[in-house]
Amino acid sequence: MFGTYDRPDQRNMLDRTKQGVIGKPLDRPEGHLKVAGQATYAAEYQRPDCAEGVLVGATISKGRVTAIHRDKVMAMPGVLGVYAAQAMLRRAAQGTAGQAPAQDVQQVDFPLQPVALVVAETFEQATAAAKALQIDYDDQSADAVFVPSREMAEPATEPTEAGDIDDAMTQAKHVVDHIYTTPGHSSTAMEPHASIAEWDGDKLTLWGSFQMLKYNIKELADSLGIASSKVRILSNYVGGGFGSKLGISHDAVSAAVAARELGRPVRVVLTRQQVFQIIMRRSETEQRVRLGADADGRLIALGHEAWVSNLPDEAFAEPVTQATEFLYAGENRRLAIELSQICRVTAGSVRAPGEAVGMQVLESAMDELACQMQIDPIELRKCNIPSVVPGDGTQYSSRKLVEALDQGAKAFGWDKRKPNPCMRREGEWWIGMGMASAARVNILMAAQARVTMRADGSLLVQSDQTDIGTGSYAILGQIAAEMLGQPIDRTEVELGDSSLPHGAGSGGSWGASSTGSAVFRACEAIRGVLAGRLKCRPDDLHLQDGMAWAEGIAPRPVTDLLDGDIAKIGLIKPGKTSKNYQQATYGAFFVEVAVNAFTGETRLRRMTGAFGIGRVLNEKTARSQCLGGMVWGIGSALTEELAFDNRDGHLVNHDLAEYHVPVHRDIPKMEVIFVEERDGVASPLQAKGVGELGICGAAGAVANAIYNACGVRLRDFPMTPDKLLADLPDPFTAAS
Ligand code: MOS
Repeated sequence: MFGTYDRPDQRNMLDRTKQGVIGKPLDRPEGHLKVAGQATYAAEYQRPDCAEGVLVGATISKGRVTAIHRDKVMAMPGVLGVYAAQAMLRRAAQGTAGQAPAQDVQQVDFPLQPVALVVAETFEQATAAAKALQIDYDDQSADAVFVPSREMAEPATEPTEAGDIDDAMTQAKHVVDHIYTTPGHSSTAMEPHASIAEWDGDKLTLWGSFQMLKYNIKELADSLGIASSKVRILSNYVGGGFGSKLGISHDAVSAAVAARELGRPVRVVLTRQQVFQIIMRRSETEQRVRLGADADGRLIALGHEAWVSNLPDEAFAEPVTQATEFLYAGENRRLAIELSQICRVTAGSVRAPGEAVGMQVLESAMDELACQMQIDPIELRKCNIPSVVPGDGTQYSSRKLVEALDQGAKAFGWDKRKPNPCMRREGEWWIGMGMASAARVNILMAAQARVTMRADGSLLVQSDQTDIGTGSYAILGQIAAEMLGQPIDRTEVELGDSSLPHGAGSGGSWGASSTGSAVFRACEAIRGVLAGRLKCRPDDLHLQDGMAWAEGIAPRPVTDLLDGDIAKIGLIKPGKTSKNYQQATYGAFFVEVAVNAFTGETRLRRMTGAFGIGRVLNEKTARSQCLGGMVWGIGSALTEELAFDNRDGHLVNHDLAEYHVPVHRDIPKMEVIFVEERDGVASPLQAKGVGELGICGAAGAVANAIYNACGVRLRDFPMTPDKLLADLPDPFTAAS
């Protein structure tokens, strides 16, 4: 099929072009606007006569709305309307257009689920009225289950089984068999979910904060019962998403419903508390890991079983074992995920769904095995790198795990690590080092982009691709400038408008490589036109700084070849390269911690990450993605934890004062190394995804460093001082 990516592209096209901007650590073109507060985010648009909406959450955990007493609040100052249409009660979608289950008008599935929208002239009036709104319920909370349990869990997918793991565990010379737990996490992006809806006849324009516009217009259209051609979404700047904006949320639908009824624009902005309470969480997990190794450390048994949760009727189950499927050897395997249905806010994709928590646990268990065997943890990993995917024999695309382990270890100074705990003490502090592998699946998504070379040679790149803080504006411009030989300041990038050709959207780390491949292909088409006019083969065409030439054809301004704009749409779709290869990014983390011998406080001292992500498209934005991921890993290791009240399922720590993400003071010197790599199987850019890799295993490296420092092996994340304190060695008598 046209555009399908079936054959690996090994031409190294972007190594042969001359402009020299690809991969360079160029600034984001929108960076100045952002730091100067001039980039307009969804809630900041000024629309004439815009009314303000505030969502009202259910005060029961489960049940039905039986009456909404509108009259009293309608009489309050400035109040314009109270809306409770079916669509507004819909749970946040997960980026699955048309597949969100139809939901009962008045059904409440979790605490504080939005059940009404109050609209007023001002935000304050709407807030006051929302607080005063009386709602009657048929409260069925007594029947609800609030705590996940293994007993009620059902298989979420077909387990992966090979050989006989129980038998292999009894045969193995060295075994690890432990239960680990990770808590729920919240994305809680810096920009809260926000929407402004405005109708022009039957056409809706919505300024919002989303990751995947081509799906989001369908979701919104489905919710409103209109055609998606009637919906336009604008998301020019998105202040983070991390999965929470893959799908639409209550703000978008309720703003659209109210604006249609009122005949004027309506803005709905979630409070920080609402972002926590009603936007999806990462499921807590319970994970059993079984490792059985022979005398040389080769795995003969590998078990990874996980128990996760979601609301009834929600199919998403945190894919905890995703990387375990292909990362390490072990002929006897059992990998499984089971799902409990519980009454807590919807669980969904949060940065690196699966690997984020799966790798942190797998890599903790690998460290336990290495320590037990008294071998270097890096060596244990290296001797378990399979040649083909265990079980199904699939080939790997490019895989730079060994290189990442080696280069990371060297840069970090891993050779200075003490082999056993409690061997390094500085004053009150135990010092330790730990490492972990990183792995994350790589995905190519269908994408389109339009590139225009204008008559003056300048370039315009257009797609509905979003930039969620990841660098899309910079990267897509660099690809076009490189391919078409123009300076970056002659390259303009327009994104985040659903009326433009549909990019891949931002999710699953695929944005830059997928939409970038569409830009690449549009540029190839333009190069084809230019080569025809210059009378050379496209691959022989050289373009640089506005000049065009080829072997035997003297340089001339590219504008000589132009009699108007050349506009081409580039298209890419996943094909045989996606089916026939196991594609992933790999890396390694190295961490040095100090654990206070008296208080159990852990402080990060240094962290190094080495990553193989295929071609690096922009060294600065790629590095920032890795740093961000590593910071998430530190949060996951030490501080982040959603706390639910087991009596009624409500989220207790629903703000950034109580849900602890790391702050600048928590983050030490960080180093990111990119391993040289080209992966032509992954994309014609030979690039892979990078956004999520930096979190996948990072918390395991922290856990392993803590063990190396003080000998405490915690299997319950996050590793807060209270948990460490219980097992710390006597600070006065332990060997130093
Ligand atoms: Mo991601 S969690 O697919 O935005």
